[in-house]
Amino acid sequence: MVWSRKFICTRMTASRTTPICSLPARVTRVDHVCREHVIVTAESDQLPPSQPGQFLQLQCRDTLATDPSIHAWGPQTWPRLNLLDQTGPPILLRRPFSIADRADDGTANRFSVISRAIGPGTRWLDRLEAGMELNVTGPLGRGYALPDPDQTALLVGGGVGIPPLLYLARTLHERGHRDVRVLFGVQTHDLLPVRLSDDLPTNGHATPCLRLPGEASFPALVATDDGSAGFAGRVTDALRALHALEGDRWRRPVICTCGPEPMLKAVAAASRAMGSDCQVCLERFMGCGLGTCLSCVVRVHAPDQEKGWRWALSCQEGPVFERDRVLDYDG
Ligand SMILES: Cc1cc2nc3c(=O)[nH]c(=O)nc-3n(C[C@H](O)[C@H](O)[C@H](O)COP(=O)(O)OP(=O)(O)OC[C@H]3O[C@@H](n4cnc5c(N)ncnc54)[C@H](O)[C@@H]3O)c2cc1C
Ligand code: FES
Repeated sequence: MVWSRKFICTRMTASRTTPICSLPARVTRVDHVCREHVIVTAESDQLPPSQPGQFLQLQCRDTLATDPSIHAWGPQTWPRLNLLDQTGPPILLRRPFSIADRADDGTANRFSVISRAIGPGTRWLDRLEAGMELNVTGPLGRGYALPDPDQTALLVGGGVGIPPLLYLARTLHERGHRDVRVLFGVQTHDLLPVRLSDDLPTNGHATPCLRLPGEASFPALVATDDGSAGFAGRVTDALRALHALEGDRWRRPVICTCGPEPMLKAVAAASRAMGSDCQVCLERFMGCGLGTCLSCVVRVHAPDQEKGWRWALSCQEGPVFERDRVLDYDG
C-alpha cells in the first residue's frame, strides 16, 4: 500500500472546525542556540493558520526507519543492516512542540520550533540539517487569548516553556501591542534558548536585551537559578521584583505563562497576589495530540457536575487554560 505523504484528518468537533494536517515541511535552517537547545526553522505552504500557544506533533524519525529489517543471514553471507538497526528502536509516537515562531513572508510560510535534547526524539531533531524533510501534524490545541492592546501583558516563561512566548511576542508586536514585558527563567546561562541583543540586566529592571522574533523589541528580564547571568533567582522572584519597581503603572495586567508545572503554580499564586489575570500553558505528557489516547488529562472546574470538576484533554481544550479553570491552580 502506498501512503500519501500528506493527509488531512477532517475531525470536526464542537470545539474545532479547522482541519488537522499532516504534511511534509522542508527544513531551511538549524541553529544550535545554546548548550541543549536547537531552533529548527522549516517552511511549508500548506500549514493552516495558527495561534501562539498551539503546538505541532513532529515525526522525529527518518522515513526509512520503517523499512523492514533483515536479521537472518547464512554462514557465507554478511548481515544486512538497515537504518533502523543502526539507529535503535523507532520513535513511533510523534512528539509535541510549541510553535516558537511563525511568519509568512509572501513567498513561503515559515515556522520554527525550539527543542531541548533530552531523549531519542529530541536528539533526532538535534541532528537535522537544512534541506531535510520534517513531517508535522498541526496546528493543534488552543492557544493564548490575546490580551487587549490597553492591557499590560507579561510573558513569563521557564525552560522549554519559553518557545510559545516568543511566537506570542511576535504576534502581539504585529498587532500593535506595545505594553509588554518578557520574563524568562532558566537554570543557568547557557540554557537560554534566545539570543541576546544586549547585556542582561541584574537589578530587576527590564530592558530590551533579547532578540525577539520579527520586529518585536520588548523590555525583558532574564533570571538564572544559579545566578550565572542576569537576575539571580527564579523567574517568580524576577516577576515580584519587576512588580515592585513598576507594578503601579501596569494596566489590567495579564500574565501568559508556560514552563514546568511547579513554576506555573508559583506564577499562578504570584499573579493572584498581584491581582493579575493569568493563562497557563500546560505541557502534559501527550501520546497522540489528537484527543484519542487520554494521556494528557487535567482536572478542570465543572459546576454542573456533582463533584464540581471533570477531566479535560489538554491537547484539545488546552494546552492553554485560564488559571482559575484548572484545579490545583485556583488558589
Ligand atoms: C504541548 C507541548 C509543547 C511542548 N513544547 C516543547 C518545546 O517547545 N520545546 C521542547 O524542547 N519541548 C517541548 N515539549 C516537551 C517535548 O514534547 C518532550 O521533551 C519530547 O516529547 C521528549 O521526547 P524525546 O523522545 O526526546 O524524549 P522521551 O524519551 O520521550 O522523554 C525524555 C524524558 O522527558 C520526560 N518528558 C517527556 N515529555 C515530557 C513532558 N511533556 N513533560 C515533562 N517531562 C516530559 C520523559 O518522562 C523522560 O523522562 C512540549 C510538550 C508539550 C506537551
Ligand atoms: S494527547 Fe492523546 S488525548 Fe491528548
